[in-house]
Amino acid sequence: MWNIRGRRLSLLIDEETIRKRVRELAKQIEKDFLGSPEEPVVVGLLKGSFVFVADLIREIGMPVVVDFLWVSSYGQSMESSGKIRIVKDLDTDVEGRWVLLVDDILDTGLTLKEIHSFLISKKPAVLKTCVLLEKKGRKKVDFTPDYLGFEVPNKFLVGYGLDWGELGRNLKGVYAVEEG
Ligand code: XMP
Repeated sequence: MWNIRGRRLSLLIDEETIRKRVRELAKQIEKDFLGSPEEPVVVGLLKGSFVFVADLIREIGMPVVVDFLWVSSYGQSMESSGKIRIVKDLDTDVEGRWVLLVDDILDTGLTLKEIHSFLISKKPAVLKTCVLLEKKGRKKVDFTPDYLGFEVPNKFLVGYGLDWGELGRNLKGVYAVEEG
């Protein structure tokens, strides 16, 4: 298995398990978004969600618009700064549209809660949130995603788009970075 900066990685969720769950989420989303008068807008948060978004949209059996928001993240550190800065805004006008916000992982919830409010200010008709992973018992704010892939332990995770200082995004599964 890979090492990143001398740390061992241990497999938490394998590729096939992710694939099955992503398909289930997509089918649920497809049903829930059938009433959208225009094509739904899927908004991915860069960079971490790009792999999840790529797989999820291809399992949604209806036309969707895909856009990305880029917010400032951890950088090289493993701790949430709690501060959110919009690096790249949406190209799509989402006013009156049905929007699905997609992120890789919910830790304290600070990031998603901020971004949720930011998107609400753009006046979408519907705004739902889909998160692949949620760290158990870590939430600092009251925020519950509408769609959740997996609950995960409180470890630093990499793979399937998640990185540690920009490494590990291209792993096919989700891995925990082991201590020491
Ligand atoms: P909060 O605490 O605001 O954090 O919910 C959410 C954002 O923090 C990043 N994050 C991680 N990134 N492995 C990562 O690669 C992790 O274990 C991890 N935990 C949080 C991620 O960018 C997420 O959007």
